[in-house]
Amino acid sequence: MTNAPGGSGGPVAPGQPIAPGQIDTVMHESRLFPPPAEFAAKARIGSMAAYRAMYDEAKADPAAFWGKLAGELHWFEPYKDVLRWKEPFAEWFAGGKTNASYNCLDAHANTPRWNKTALIWEGEPGDERRLTYAELHREVCKFANVLKNLGVGQGDVVSIYMPMTPELAIAMLACARIGAVHSVIFAGFSAEAIADRNHDASAKLQITADGSWRRGKQLPLKDTVDEALAKSPTVRKCVVLKRTGANVNMTAGRDYWWHELMDNASPDCPATPLDSETPLYILYTSGSTGKPKGIKHTTAGYNLYVKKTFEWVFDHRDEDIFWCTADIGWVTGHSYVVYGPLSAGATVLMYEGAPNFPDESRFWQLIEKYRVTIFYTAPTAIRAFIKWGDHHVDKHDLSSLRLLGTVGEGINPEAWMWYHRKIGREKCPIVDTWWQTETGGIMMTPLPGAIPTKPGSCTKPLPGILPAIVTPSGREVPQGQGGWLVMTHPWPGMLRGIWGDDARFKEQYWSKVPGKYLAGDNARCDADGYYWIMGRIDDVLNVSGHRLSTIEIESALVSHPAVAEAAAVGRPDEIKGDAVAVFVVLKQGEPGDALKKELQNHVRHEIGALAVPDDVRFTGALPKTRSGKIMRRLLKDIASGKAETGDTTTLEDFSVLAKLRGDEE
Ligand code: PRX
Repeated sequence: MTNAPGGSGGPVAPGQPIAPGQIDTVMHESRLFPPPAEFAAKARIGSMAAYRAMYDEAKADPAAFWGKLAGELHWFEPYKDVLRWKEPFAEWFAGGKTNASYNCLDAHANTPRWNKTALIWEGEPGDERRLTYAELHREVCKFANVLKNLGVGQGDVVSIYMPMTPELAIAMLACARIGAVHSVIFAGFSAEAIADRNHDASAKLQITADGSWRRGKQLPLKDTVDEALAKSPTVRKCVVLKRTGANVNMTAGRDYWWHELMDNASPDCPATPLDSETPLYILYTSGSTGKPKGIKHTTAGYNLYVKKTFEWVFDHRDEDIFWCTADIGWVTGHSYVVYGPLSAGATVLMYEGAPNFPDESRFWQLIEKYRVTIFYTAPTAIRAFIKWGDHHVDKHDLSSLRLLGTVGEGINPEAWMWYHRKIGREKCPIVDTWWQTETGGIMMTPLPGAIPTKPGSCTKPLPGILPAIVTPSGREVPQGQGGWLVMTHPWPGMLRGIWGDDARFKEQYWSKVPGKYLAGDNARCDADGYYWIMGRIDDVLNVSGHRLSTIEIESALVSHPAVAEAAAVGRPDEIKGDAVAVFVVLKQGEPGDALKKELQNHVRHEIGALAVPDDVRFTGALPKTRSGKIMRRLLKDIASGKAETGDTTTLEDFSVLAKLRGDEE
């Protein structure tokens, strides 16, 4: 780690006023990794000059740029305008008709991809299935007919609560085929969470399974759905996939077995030509507080955006075996397990279970077994791999890998270095991809054959993406300074709204900085034009007049050999404003006063006295959302001795929270 006190933002003296929105940077990372020459030589976009040319072309005329690419989708009817923009409502490819299920499946008919494997699936117990594009097409057509027979039509919302099985992707693509809108709910949420989402979306049909495998145990998905459906009056019917064989209650007239319905379904179901702006899906994101928001994505723009970003960012080639470890219940799974890779004709690996079952080498074993070439995972997983130890990795041959990716959080530079050395064997570029449920697809990331990487930076925007870093009044901050990350121009994958709540959509994303999309993250842009995400706007610490980013303090801690993971939050302090409180998970060493002092000194050395944590708490694990993000809001409450407030239904593990509270008492 090469942090030095006082980055280009420059420290502000305590008590001195600071501009709202401004964040001080304390991190200085100077390592630079150019794309390996061999990789660049074969890459789709193989040089900085090629990237710049594309970027400049797109910037000069975004509509012309996207219009040129739109020919890669199938159009039943041509569109009239590339973009109609009435802030904050965008219409992309208005007047045209296409279908995302067609683009993912039928588009590959009469090409060599038709008999290529689309999905390789492995269940947690080790069962395996493969489906070619032709086979997947047949299953999707049949299930689309099942949906129709159950009375589902265009515009109806289908709620999906399923394990990571091929049928989950089949269900989504079947909805897309007939213009029904899917709302996938991660199969770890509670009955209450399902019922809330079903209610908000007025879902008509539920799809689930008898159960799912997780760390050798069966999760009783159908029981949870039964409880949810008791409170979901709009849902009239429920289709149940037999996965584990568990005993479940089937309510006559409401519940149907997937396999029985499929036995009688016709495989003939042409894709419905759909207006470009037909809603494709709703995906609920919890936000940091309050009621979940149903993020709405539509058909043509989203489909084009995930196809192109998949091809560019993962440098896709026909022979690749692509593995994105995200559950389809999150946007990463929607965009880079289903719609992006399948539109591009890729072979996708899907795995049902946990990374540490039957032991901590499961992911490496899968990479070796299926000769995975591209591996895309989350920083939280990488920190767990580091903690579990290198011996799990060493047992397996990872030589098939040619490209690595991360998503979901900032990656601490030391975790990046481990990923680079241990998993990438210093040969694989790493694409640190910044994006959001709302953005639909990847927005900023190094193109692996073109853009040199810096550990901890998502580097540069993709062509057609125009970010800026501003103060709340919309003024750009000086280069190097932290501020609010915004987008200054619409892009095809952008959300089209919050389901049923235009006012909240405007308020949340478009009103705080007039005329721009507010991402809700802080970021800075360095002298090379590289972006560094500094954490959520709400998480900034204000220490003696300095605004510090959570990720920078956390990265300093993670660079200490004893630390596996860390979370930094502010605790109100009469003198400083915020005192720095950190929660630390160790990978070695004994928790205690000696190590606490050592970590404080380490932060002083890496960042400076300003960021030295007043409180250091050791914990076995950090509270996380189901998608692996650290819940800093909860930690903040714990650090300040407040009773925990707000919604905790997204916690990964309630015992973690209980334990932290216990530590406190
Ligand atoms: O704070 C950023 C963080 O995750 C947020 C988006 O979360 P979600 O909608 O759940 O989507 C996650 C998968 C796309 C962002 O606002 N985030 C995501 N990727 C990165 C990141 N922070 C830093 N670096 C990233 N690469």
